[in-house]
Amino acid sequence: MGGQEREGHEQVERRTIGAGALAVGAVGLGCMPMSWAYSGSRQRGDASLRAVHRALDAGSTLLDTADMYGPFTNELLVGRALKERRQDAFVSTKVGLLVGEQHIVANGRPGYVKRACDASLRRLQTDVIDLYQLHREDPEVPVEETWGAMADLVRAGKVRALGLCAVGARAGRRSGGRLHDATIRQLRRVQQVFPVSAVQAELSVWSPEALESLLPWCEARDVGFLAAMPLGNGFLTGTLTPGQGFEPDDVRARHPRFTAEMMAANQPIVAGLRRIAARHGTEVTPAQVALAWVLAQGRHVVPVPGTKHERWATENAASAALRLSPQDLAEVAQLPGARGSWD
Ligand SMILES: NC(=O)c1ccc[n+]([C@@H]2O[C@H](COP(=O)([O-])OP(=O)(O)OC[C@H]3O[C@@H](n4cnc5c(N)ncnc54)[C@H](OP(=O)(O)O)[C@@H]3O)[C@@H](O)[C@H]2O)c1
Repeated sequence: MGGQEREGHEQVERRTIGAGALAVGAVGLGCMPMSWAYSGSRQRGDASLRAVHRALDAGSTLLDTADMYGPFTNELLVGRALKERRQDAFVSTKVGLLVGEQHIVANGRPGYVKRACDASLRRLQTDVIDLYQLHREDPEVPVEETWGAMADLVRAGKVRALGLCAVGARAGRRSGGRLHDATIRQLRRVQQVFPVSAVQAELSVWSPEALESLLPWCEARDVGFLAAMPLGNGFLTGTLTPGQGFEPDDVRARHPRFTAEMMAANQPIVAGLRRIAARHGTEVTPAQVALAWVLAQGRHVVPVPGTKHERWATENAASAALRLSPQDLAEVAQLPGARGSWD
């Protein structure tokens, strides 16, 4: 992180990720919905910026962005916050995906990676990126070459640590293996070149697959784990209604768990989170229980819930103080598995 403890945050739980001992608030902030993938993302402007400030105020120091969100506008937005408060924030961004006319394409060529890093630094208005993550492997470039270029950026002082994203891992399972088998093979290869400080992959109450092998792999090697989509793209918050519909530019418009039928079928999961929340007090929300469950999966885990709303940024940060009991965790384990699959 850019520096010292911020005054008044002594009470906020901090976690250490990676062998490089990077200290962050236990709950981060996913900045993607401010510019990409969700309805209304592009219209929020200053309201989103205020959400970043509220997150930092509440001790959510890790701001997760990517050059492709927008594209580029998400980093510009985060850069506006960093310009004022670099010392309060830990910035993680990503490289390796380009938004084309029709498709998103991977580019892991070393020369491109180095140029993309300089461009991200400019947009983020900083001279160092705390965590630089490979967004997707480029099938045309050996991952060792891409990772080697990223390691050069650490040696050049432009980046403090490296991370690997495994959110696109579903293809591995379709070819017969477990969801993260291919990710672990990739991690072994890049570890030969330069240490991995963090892995980012989906982990939530309704998508717990990373618990099988990826999370233990990270824990055993002192690799941090950033939990993407910890709120199940908003479903686990209990604020969405089956059949409400999504704008065409919203990822949920094509997501198999967000048809009216599947949202209705998955209501027992939300009801379970609601029951647990009620035991902890009238102010506690299902979203906070969902995040506390992610936090309970290991000291190396940092959820990065995405939001563009100030209120939710504050609410999500506060989940760091919620401790689930063994009974709560057992109840979550008994919830039905999610219906609706990509396979
Ligand atoms: N590496 C990758 O390939 C990859 C892929 C996906 C995501 N990610 C990272 O993971 C982060 C989180 O994933 P995500 O944002 O897609 O999914 P998420 O965190 O599971 O859910 C985000 C959704 O939940 C809503 N929400 C957030 N807090 C809420 C609350 N307290 N109450 C009610 N609703 C709430 C948000 O609404 P509003 O937007 O309206 O505030 C948004 O629609 C992203 O921001 C990104 O940084 C990475």
